[in-house]
Formats: sequence, C-alpha cells, structure tokens
Amino acid sequence: MRIDIITVLPELLRSPFEHSIMKRAQQKGLLEVITHDLREFGLGKHRQVDDYQYGGGAGMVMMVEPLANCIEHLQQEQKYDEIIYLTPDGEQLNQSISNQLSLKEKLLLICGHYKGIDERIRQNYVTKEISIGDYVLSGGELAAAVLVDSIGRLIPGVLNDETSALFDSFQDDLLAPPVYTRPAEYNGWKVPDILLSGNDAAIDQWRYEQSLERTKIRRPDLFEGDKTTGES
Ligand code: ADE
Repeated sequence: MRIDIITVLPELLRSPFEHSIMKRAQQKGLLEVITHDLREFGLGKHRQVDDYQYGGGAGMVMMVEPLANCIEHLQQEQKYDEIIYLTPDGEQLNQSISNQLSLKEKLLLICGHYKGIDERIRQNYVTKEISIGDYVLSGGELAAAVLVDSIGRLIPGVLNDETSALFDSFQDDLLAPPVYTRPAEYNGWKVPDILLSGNDAAIDQWRYEQSLERTKIRRPDLFEGDKTTGES
C-alpha cells in the first residue's frame, strides 16, 4: 500500500513512521508513506498557502490553488482509491473503517490547519472525510499519523503473528481481555490461575468472558442491541 500525505509540517510526520511496526511494514515493502510539503506549491515568493476567509471572521483558511496544484501533480503519477481529508467534522474513525481502508492500494491524505481548507477542495477532490474524535487538534498531521498506524498494522504480513490483529479490541465489537506476563505473583498480586492451567479451551473461554464483561461495563454501546449476549 502507498499512502501520500499532503502537509505544511512534513517534519511532524517523520517520527511516527520510523519506529516499531510502521518501520517494519515499510522495510518489508508492504507500506510506503510519502509526505509532500504543501509549501512547495505555495503562491508567490512567500509560498503562501493560507489566506483570510471570505465573509470575515478570525482564522486563516488553506487556499484552493496550492492544494489543487499539489493534488493534481500527484494524480499525474498515482490513481488514488480514496482522497481523505482529516477533519473534526468528518466520519468518526473506527476499526471497521480502518479494516476497509487497509484493503486499498493507494491513499492520499490531506492535513488541514487553521480554520480548515477551502470548501472547493472538499467538494471537488476529497472522497472521504475522517475525524479521529470529538476534539479539535491544531492540525491534521497527528490525525493522519493515527489513521496510517491503524491501517498499516492491518496490512497482511505486517504483524509478525498475523492472527494477533484479529484479537484486537473492537475487531469483533468487543474490548480485548486483560493480559499478564511473568512473574506469576508480584507483591502478592497473582495472575489468574486459569492462565497458568495449560488448558487452551478453558483459557479461550475465560478470555471471551472477560471481553464480554469488560465491554459490558466500559462500552455497552458496542453491543448494539446485544447480538453477543442476547441481553439488552
Ligand atoms: N484536525 C483537527 N482536529 C481533528 C480531528 N479531531 N480529527 C481529524 N482531523 C483533525
């Protein structure tokens, strides 16, 4: 998968993809993340990318022309499956959206700043708008990093143990069960006996019950009419 990201702060997007799973995904050739500095498409000698908003009001708006030029420049080389604008008024990101996007070949992400981007870019180029939550960040870069991470780890072959993503929280509308590692007892706090039993079936059942319990308490909304328990 190839992900291009348009940003005014390419520096901010360097580190998130240089470590751990994202690094490995790129080393294995399964993921390519390329940032594009919008300033290179800025207007005039100051490489202007933002301007005052029509109708008045505080805050700058990212101009249509640099963004359109940058997008069209990239489109000459790539055919994108989706052009995604990260924005707090977009569809809220969830595991299902990440799963779907992980099956795509080429994505273009646009990071906004200030008051956002000129609406004409949204109307004429953007195919999907995504928010990472009901709060406002100072720019779309951190949201883009979250999106790329959540997608990248789902690309087949990226995780060592391919099955592990299947057991993530949210993957089946349940939160993940608690986990423990050595020692079996610390400070008088014990690992549940069942996990030391070696009985795989019983452990699976325990984990499932813990997932149900945790979801019921913390995120009852995930049950959506309770298809898992039959209760409501
Ligand atoms: N840009 C600013 N805030 C954002 C959010 N919550 N999600 C996505 N992009 C954003």
